[in-house]
Amino acid sequence: MEIRPRRLRGGDSLRKMVRETRVSPSSLIYPLFIKEGSNIREEIPSLAGQFRYSPDRVDQAAEEALAHGVGALLLFGLPEKKDPLGSAAYADDGVVQQGIRRLKERYPQLYLITDVCMCEYTSHGHCGILCETEVDNDATLPYLAAIAVSHVRAGADMVAPSDMMDGRVLAIRQGLDEAGFYGTPIMSYAVKYASSFYGPFREAAGSAPSFGNRKGYQMDYHNVREARKEAQLDVEEGADILMVKPAMSYLDVMYQVKQETLLPLAAYSVSGEYAMIKAAAAQGLIDEYGVMCESAIGIYRAGADILISYYAKEIADAMGKGDIG
Ligand code: PBG
Repeated sequence: MEIRPRRLRGGDSLRKMVRETRVSPSSLIYPLFIKEGSNIREEIPSLAGQFRYSPDRVDQAAEEALAHGVGALLLFGLPEKKDPLGSAAYADDGVVQQGIRRLKERYPQLYLITDVCMCEYTSHGHCGILCETEVDNDATLPYLAAIAVSHVRAGADMVAPSDMMDGRVLAIRQGLDEAGFYGTPIMSYAVKYASSFYGPFREAAGSAPSFGNRKGYQMDYHNVREARKEAQLDVEEGADILMVKPAMSYLDVMYQVKQETLLPLAAYSVSGEYAMIKAAAAQGLIDEYGVMCESAIGIYRAGADILISYYAKEIADAMGKGDIG
């Protein structure tokens, strides 16, 4: 035999030398839940090891992320009061806006991205303005733009719309430009499926719809041409980064979107993916560290340039040790 693939598997340094997937902590984004109130740091029951912080206590989360080499956060808000229009989402003193101001003042080196959506803020838990029992797409767009502008005004570096309304990237782009924020990028949750993997997040954020489901706006998981269409539309509307979400069950979608776009591609490894690994590991069924590393690299290998993960800090450590990356 002249050709022996095993030759390149002989020893750790050689295996690391010929790795095909190279990644670094600069590609990681860590989600953070900010809850209105004061002196709150509470563990999220559905997401072991993840916490909700009030704006006055976000320092700890920021310091931990930075200590692990994670410099970007994706912020979610839990307001004290909800109403049908989700008005706390675009209030100047809203919970995310408070959190942004605090973080920017104390940790200017942190890159702050905000989730732009209404489901955490509406009394009905849907991602937009309701007309009877349906989310009214076009009535929702100005609200999304107002939320984005309000986040950036508070100091956000980037906005990430996750509502899945048609035309929202353009509406947000126009809103930001009119407010003078033409330099602020939009990371669009371009390809977001109606997924049962969001279960633990909805408990964490208190954002489950009070009736019905999100299938009228989030995508059907049977479809991949539709993913390409959504991605293409968001490019045309001015998105700067595209996202595919969830990640682990959608690697084929990621791969295809990556082949067709010139934009950076982000993947969101969502709450259910994290919770499944945690739960299986807690039962002694799998090696948590090994599965975390392997699934992260699987996502990058499929084409992700950026990974949003509840494991971001631990993945950064694994990269630092050279176990992956
Ligand atoms: C808000 C939003 C959701 C997630 C991110 N942004 C929930 C949803 O669409 O129901 C899910 C993230 C996760 O599961 O980790 N619309």
